[in-house]
Parts: sequence; C-alpha cells; structure tokens
Amino acid sequence: MQKPHVGIIMDGNGRWAQRRGLPRTAGHVEGAKAVNEIVETAARAHVRVLTLYAFSSDNWRRPGAEVTALMGLLRRYLTTETRRCIEQSIRINFIGRRDRLTPSLVRAIEQSEQLTAGCAGMHLRIAVDYSAQHSILEAARLAGMETGVDAARFQELLDQVDHSGAAAGAVDLLIRTGAERRLSDFLLWQSAYAELYFADCMWPDFDAAGFHAALDYYHGRQRRFGQVMAEAAT
Ligand code: IPE
Ligand code: IPE
Ligand code: MG
Repeated sequence: MQKPHVGIIMDGNGRWAQRRGLPRTAGHVEGAKAVNEIVETAARAHVRVLTLYAFSSDNWRRPGAEVTALMGLLRRYLTTETRRCIEQSIRINFIGRRDRLTPSLVRAIEQSEQLTAGCAGMHLRIAVDYSAQHSILEAARLAGMETGVDAARFQELLDQVDHSGAAAGAVDLLIRTGAERRLSDFLLWQSAYAELYFADCMWPDFDAAGFHAALDYYHGRQRRFGQVMAEAAT
C-alpha cells in the first residue's frame, strides 16, 4: 500500500478554551502544541503528505484580535519548528493564498520552504488563507488556457495555485476533530475518495494515540474507487 496523504481539519481550539473559562486564543496556543505532537507522530508513522488546515479564507471573518493571535502563532511555529523539521527531514510548504498575508509572514514562510526544500521525508503542508473553492476556480481559469486538461493535469494546476511545492495528490484519510462533521471548504477536489474520520475531542486534546486510532481505521477500510472487488464479482 502506498504511503498515505492525510489531511486534518484541526477544529475545536476555541471550545477547548471556553470550557475552561479561558480566552479562545489560549486554545490556539494549546492547539499549536498538539500540532508538534501530531507532526512527529505522522512522520514516524510513514505518512507521505500531511496537510493541516490551520486558517481558512473564511476565518478572516473572525475578530481582529483572534486573527492577529493566530498569525503570530504561525510565525512562532515557523521560527521554532523549521530547524526541527530539517532534523527530521520534513519538507514544509504553506498552501493557500499569500497575497493577503503580511509581507513579513510571507518572508518567513518562504524561508522555511527554502530551508526544508531538500528534505526527503514527510511533506508537511500547512493550509493558511486556504479555500478549496477559490483554488478550484483559479485552477479552472488556468485550465481554460490549455487544451485537453484531464483530472491529473487539473490536480497539477491545483498544486500550482496552492503553492504546494511538490505534487501532493489525492487525500487518502481526512480527519476532523472538534465533533463537527463537515468539510468547511478543505481540499474538496482532492478528497473525492478520502476515507473520513471524525474525532469528537477538541483539537488540543488530539494526541498520538488519537492519530494512531485514525490510521488504524483507515487501514481497516476496503477502498473500492467505484469498482467491485474480485471476490464479490460473481
Ligand atoms: C480551529 O479551532 C482553529 C481555527 C479554525 C483557526 P476553532 O477556533 O475553530 O475552535 P472552535 O471550533 O471555535 O471551538
Ligand atoms: C475549519 O474550522 C477551519 C480550520 C480548522 C482552520 P472552522 O471552525 O472555521 O469551520 P466551521 O466554521 O465550524 O465550519
Ligand atoms: Mg471551529
């Protein structure tokens, strides 16, 4: 079996904090710690691509102070984790729009991408200002300038639009924490045949054991891609 592409919608930071009488931003700080544990766990579990949904294009609608706190956390994450990623041979890319991020954050992103470009281990993609619908529209615009665009070529155009750095391909396992069962505009094209796994815990409580439970679920699935399995074809 090919090593999987795992996507995670990291949801529930705000509720985690509110349940403890803390400000929502405290949940984001705690959530960033969970990111470290899951990235390491995924790399050790031989995940090929890990795409983490950190900030959706619709999250700009949140209060300014929360957005600022989230952008600050991202910046700090890059400062502290880039070196660790190099040590673990993890390649970092940010997918999503860059034209609405501050120039200093874009510079930090580009620096992390350059420093880890030669890393041959897991490909870590962090989705920031990401909207699957926006990416699909942009890729469709590019596709209109070419002839004979098929699904494989369209996927390449999506990776280009998203600044994916390298081909990431289809999502094999899509995890969402936070007890919601929706996609919230994440990797809609790429998740056509993704196995869906919903965890009821809030993101800061998601840990290595939770991640392994999701992987076990994935490995127990029979993926048919529309076909009938040989033993059932009589
Ligand atoms: C996920 O947690 C992090 C982001 C969307 C940035 P939330 O902030 O959505 O937490 P809840 O869903 O409000 O609990
Ligand atoms: C999705 O979570 C985005 C991220 C996890 C970054 P949201 O909390 O923004 O999604 P909705 O609003 O509940 O659908
Ligand atoms: Mg949420």
